Amino acid sequence: MKDPIGTTGLILNEPFLWEIGKKGRSGFSLPKSDVPASPLDADLVGKGPDFPDLSEIDVVRHYTHLSSWNFGVDTGMYPLGSCTMKYNPKTNERQASLPGFAQAHPLLPPELAQGVLEIMFDLQAYLSEITGLPAVSLQPAAGAHGELTGMLLFYAFHHKNQEKRTKILIPDTAHGTNPASASLCGFKSIPVASNEMGILAPKDVADLMDEDTAGIMVTNPNTLGLFEAHIKEISDIVHAKGGLVYADGANMNAVMGIVDMTDLGVDVLHLNLHKTFSTPHGGGGPGSGPVCVTKALEPFLPVPRVIRVGDRFELSHDYPESIGKVHAFYGNFGIQIRAYSYILSMGAQLKKASQLAVLNANYLKERLRDTFYLPYDRPCMHECVFTDKYQQNDKVSTLDIAKRLIDYGYHPPTVYFPLVVSGALMMEPTETEAKENLDHFIDALQQIAQEAKENPSLLLQAPVKTKVRRLDETTAARKPCLAG
Ligand SMILES: Cc1ncc(COP(=O)(O)O)c(C=O)c1O
Repeated sequence: MKDPIGTTGLILNEPFLWEIGKKGRSGFSLPKSDVPASPLDADLVGKGPDFPDLSEIDVVRHYTHLSSWNFGVDTGMYPLGSCTMKYNPKTNERQASLPGFAQAHPLLPPELAQGVLEIMFDLQAYLSEITGLPAVSLQPAAGAHGELTGMLLFYAFHHKNQEKRTKILIPDTAHGTNPASASLCGFKSIPVASNEMGILAPKDVADLMDEDTAGIMVTNPNTLGLFEAHIKEISDIVHAKGGLVYADGANMNAVMGIVDMTDLGVDVLHLNLHKTFSTPHGGGGPGSGPVCVTKALEPFLPVPRVIRVGDRFELSHDYPESIGKVHAFYGNFGIQIRAYSYILSMGAQLKKASQLAVLNANYLKERLRDTFYLPYDRPCMHECVFTDKYQQNDKVSTLDIAKRLIDYGYHPPTVYFPLVVSGALMMEPTETEAKENLDHFIDALQQIAQEAKENPSLLLQAPVKTKVRRLDETTAARKPCLAG
């Protein structure tokens, strides 16, 4: 039966714009025409799209209602591990919307875009300072795109040395984009098993590393939220066989101002500006995944490069060994400027942001350790991974726990990843959550664990307070129903 007061659970029902529209309504008024009317081309009459006639307030209310159905980091805690949803300070938005930046056309000649180029140049310098790697390209549009760029750099480096290396070592904890990027570039991914501590053992790398292997891709801290403690030794093993070390720096938010990547033997690293440097992401929107490299790999970076000549900034194509362009124009400038604003407003506090992110994750881990099973019982970095092992006794799974969290007003954590952990529940609180927020979240999870024991069917039916109840995710993915 249709809900008579227009609510289903927490959320208002919202008709389609076609249902709201009434013939003759309009969202604009034009001054009376002072030129003779000219009839529409006969081919166009009656053939336009079937748009409803709407007033301005109809449209504003409709989209405002819809926007309030979204869960975002501005609405509540979003503990999505590995996908780092941290708060995006509003000052970054303000800087990005300044007309001089927002309206700068990418085809402007450099002499008319000095301010924009200076910001890009400075951002490169800041990212270089933060990672320890001397040269940076801002072009890649996301983490995965940074990985692909990094793999192209590996290829170019070995090609210059007249070597054809075909394989890349990738830990079994890696984000799925790592092997995908390697294979897009023509490399064969060779998995390296993590050990009982959740990290790589140098011997396992040494056993696999050979002269056909282009290098290794290591995420550090890794996706179990653990620091790869043997990374320097591993880098030495890879370098000794002529390979290169790629660091997936998507988790750099745990180690900013603390770790110099060159000390770890890293040759190429990508950053996810939309994770570490607080720029918005999600929903497939624009991201940014700059790559930072050693001097030896600098000649291969994408062109054009933003360089300084005296007190002017220029776009240089003069890098004959470059892998070429990886993005239209110069990358997603709107995202770069938000990261620039974040870095400038944080300054040396970036280190504190990392320390607090680590502290918050360890606080969650310690307070929930008796509630959920901890597969790797060690201090964690920015995120911690539990499993549903205790709840399985009551036939409740990770998915049920995640769905029930929605009823408590939280976005679920990452589930079933990393793949090496069965029933993983991966939580990343980020540095931006205050202790009270963490305590509320912990209370909710403890209550859910109690419900699992006392009334498991509550969890099996969850979410119960949302407009759409539990989806058949397989059918939703295979037959998406986008309307109606
Ligand atoms: C460890 C890791 N590597 C790579 C990526 C890929 O980044 P993106 O989603 O920007 O392509 C992610 C994404 O969250 C990640 O967590």
